[in-house]
Amino acid sequence: MRTTAALTFAHRLLARTLGPGRVAVDATAGNGNDALALAGLVAPDGMVHCFDIQAEALEKTRKRLEAAGLGHLVRYHAAGHEDLLSCLPPAHHGRVAALVFNLGFLPGGDDTVVTRPETTLAALDAATAVLAPDGSIAVVCYTGHPGGAAEAAAVAAWCANLPFEAWRAARYELVNKPGSPIIAFFVERRTEASKTAMRSSGIDVHSLLL
Ligand SMILES: C[S@@+](CC[C@H](N)C(=O)[O-])C[C@H]1O[C@@H](n2cnc3c(N)ncnc32)[C@H](O)[C@@H]1O
Repeated sequence: MRTTAALTFAHRLLARTLGPGRVAVDATAGNGNDALALAGLVAPDGMVHCFDIQAEALEKTRKRLEAAGLGHLVRYHAAGHEDLLSCLPPAHHGRVAALVFNLGFLPGGDDTVVTRPETTLAALDAATAVLAPDGSIAVVCYTGHPGGAAEAAAVAAWCANLPFEAWRAARYELVNKPGSPIIAFFVERRTEASKTAMRSSGIDVHSLLL
């Protein structure tokens, strides 16, 4: 598992809106680290929808969540995240408090099976449709593998095109990190409720999103 500053920061931001009973989406289940964090936040009665196109990833995630005693909170979707709208029950449309897209390839798995800009952007469009009014989306992009930099650029452009009146989008990156950049993008609706939540938040960078 690559524990990065960007990922840790993403989890902290998403934690603001997650709590018992809420619905979350792990758009790239992988080894289950993000799903585990999300499930812990929505326990004891929330739900995490996990997506992955590799059976191996879903199985690793399932074992991880079962071992943590949180398996009952998770629904597994052996599907691409671009099918988010059709996979989520209609009752969860407009109710998803947080979505994590941890892009790239499965660490320790087949590094040729990677997320791709076309499907990632389709999934991000779908994510905005299922998001709760106070919900947020985190997208962590890795630029060191083939196609990774192009995908990060596509995500950046998608974020930049969100209408400013209705959305806030920000990026987080350690600019002095050696090697290929890891970039986290954060997106949330701009509502009175979200502004109030951010003002009362303990994380200073939230003021950037107001
Ligand atoms: C960086 S890993 C995810 C790490 C994971 N969240 C964790 O906590 O360990 C990226 C995952 O995205 C999956 N993936 C690739 N294309 C996908 C798609 N269209 N929809 C859903 N998952 C996809 C890969 O199979 C891989 O498991």
